[in-house]
Amino acid sequence: MNTDKALAHIAQLIENPAYNTQSTLDQICVFLQENYSHYDWVGFYFRNGVKEELKLKSFAGEPTDHTIIPFGKGICGQVAVSNKNFVVPDVKAQDNYIACSINVKSEIVIPLFVDQENIGQIDIDSHLVDPFTEEDENLLSKINQQVADFLKKEKALPIFPSN
Ligand code: SME
Repeated sequence: MNTDKALAHIAQLIENPAYNTQSTLDQICVFLQENYSHYDWVGFYFRNGVKEELKLKSFAGEPTDHTIIPFGKGICGQVAVSNKNFVVPDVKAQDNYIACSINVKSEIVIPLFVDQENIGQIDIDSHLVDPFTEEDENLLSKINQQVADFLKKEKALPIFPSN
């Protein structure tokens, strides 16, 4: 699907008053997983309270055991620290990688910023080797911006408050 069309669809999901924060994020994950054939698993992780760890908030695809990821661990944990996009064409070439399924061959993680603060990320796994391009990075960065604006407007932050 073309990027502008996808962004317009997500803007519609976000504006739909029938969806709350959880269901909006869920719908975005499902939409991406269903409409991009190289997106086999799509999820949003957010910082867990004041802990130095990520917690899974929403996903589409096979359930994962890795619902909590310490900062620095795996591709996701590295992005929590680096604040930079991480595209992994072949997961076999990565030492610091957390395997969710033997079918996963590649991964892309794009940080999600609210007011310049890295509060979470979108994470996508693919069963193909080296499927991600600059177009994916561009699309996912723009979706994260849409989600950041939505979360601010909903006053949904922090996603996981401290207990
Ligand atoms: N592979 C990730 C772990 C999360 S799963 O992909 C859902 C990583 O190395 O951080």
